[in-house]
This record gives sequence, C-alpha cells and structure tokens, in this order.
Amino acid sequence: MYGKCSSLPDAWSVFHDLVHKNAFSCNIMISTLCANGQSAQAIHLFLALASDSVVRPTHVSFVAAKRVLGLFSESLGLESGALEEAFGGERHAMRMNYYPPCPEPELTIGLDAHADPNGFTILQQDTRVKDGLQIVHCGAWVPIKPLPGAFVVNIGDQLQVLSNDAYKSVEHRAVVNSERTRVSIASFYGPAEDSHIALLAQLVADEAPACFKDSVYGNYLQSFYASKLDGKAAIETVRY
Ligand code: OGA
Ligand code: NI
Repeated sequence: MYGKCSSLPDAWSVFHDLVHKNAFSCNIMISTLCANGQSAQAIHLFLALASDSVVRPTHVSFVAAKRVLGLFSESLGLESGALEEAFGGERHAMRMNYYPPCPEPELTIGLDAHADPNGFTILQQDTRVKDGLQIVHCGAWVPIKPLPGAFVVNIGDQLQVLSNDAYKSVEHRAVVNSERTRVSIASFYGPAEDSHIALLAQLVADEAPACFKDSVYGNYLQSFYASKLDGKAAIETVRY
C-alpha cells in the first residue's frame, strides 16, 4: 500500500488508519513539510506508533545533507559547492515505511527493487531487525545490517547523472520477516522539481564521454513514479 500526503496531520491519520486496520505494509510519503523543519515532529509521531521501536528520534537535518553533498563534490575533485549549484534548488521529502511481519516472508517483498530518483537519501533503519534493507552488490542481494546510531546514505540517480557515471545510484529493496515489525525513515534530498539537470562539464573527458541527456528533475520524477519501482530502469531513459 502506498500513500502520498502533503501535510503532516494528513499523513499521520492515513498512516495510523492503515496500521491499525490491518497488517498492510505501507509507505507514507511527505513531500512538502520537511523544508519547514517539521520532520522531527513527524518522526516523533511515527515513533509513538511503533511504540517499542528503537529507531532513534533524531532529526535528520538538511544542513547535514548539504554537508554530505559538499563532500560528494570534493570527492569528485570539484569545489565543495559544485553539486549544490548544479542542483539549482532543493527538494526535501520524507517517507515513513512500516513493514509488518509476514508468516511466509519468502513469498512477498516489503519494497520492490529500485534506485532512489533523487540526489541521495539518508535512511534511518530499525536496529531490531537485521535483514531488512538489501542492496545489489556484485550482482547479488546483500543485507545492510543496521548499526546503532548510524545512518545509511544511499546514492540516488541525480548524483549518478551529474557525476557522469562516476557515482552509481544503488539498487536496493526492503524484505520482511516472520517475527518483527520493521520501520524505517527515509529522508530524501535532491534538486528542485523545476531544476534543469545537466551533467557537470568538468567531468567529461576523452576517456569519459558524456553519458546522460539533460532533463528537468520534475519530469524525471514523474516518469519514475509512473513506471512503478523497477530496479534501475529510470536512469536508462536519460542515458545516451
Ligand atoms: C525508500 C527505501 C528502504 C527501507 O524508502 O526509498 O528504500 O529500508 N526504504 O525501508
Ligand atoms: Ni529507496
């Protein structure tokens, strides 16, 4: 079950209803309010629901996200503000994921394989559950075990595009288990919807020709959501 909400009370009541009605897995997306510093409030609400959860109510600060973006720039040999400038504005979103236990976990999936369409995602995992998030590594699904107090940073498609394939967005999925509810909170950080995304000219060279066409991020997002979650298919639509 997938819900999209534009305000916190709205998201909260949809989420609360779903969870209490039945054992549906659900993902509630909150797109507009994180920029106003309300994500901490959302996380507290979420925790009230998963009362014995050990997901820490840490506010994922978007100031921290900007610092991470600066480090990505520097690691590409660029000025620390280069990627922020290339984003041309920012879009924050948060998704609260709830995965109830399933008696036959091998017959289902919590969240289908996908790469996040944004710049990068800071994911808070549930430290009670060891096998939830999995990524594709060397062609196989590998579990990413939660570490107490640590976030996972998942690279998204826009970092792959802007870096001209130097960074690869990570294909990932969430699996369920038969014993425990698992929750996670994904904080998405990326360009503004009206941003024109063009790979960084400094990263084009004879041995690294331009790999991706320009796109408007809002259009990319629309086609991502229209085609459902399908591994890394979305980024191939903008590859030359
Ligand atoms: C997501 C996501 C993984 C998880 O919300 O985009 O990949 O562990 N979540 O819930
Ligand atoms: Ni994801």
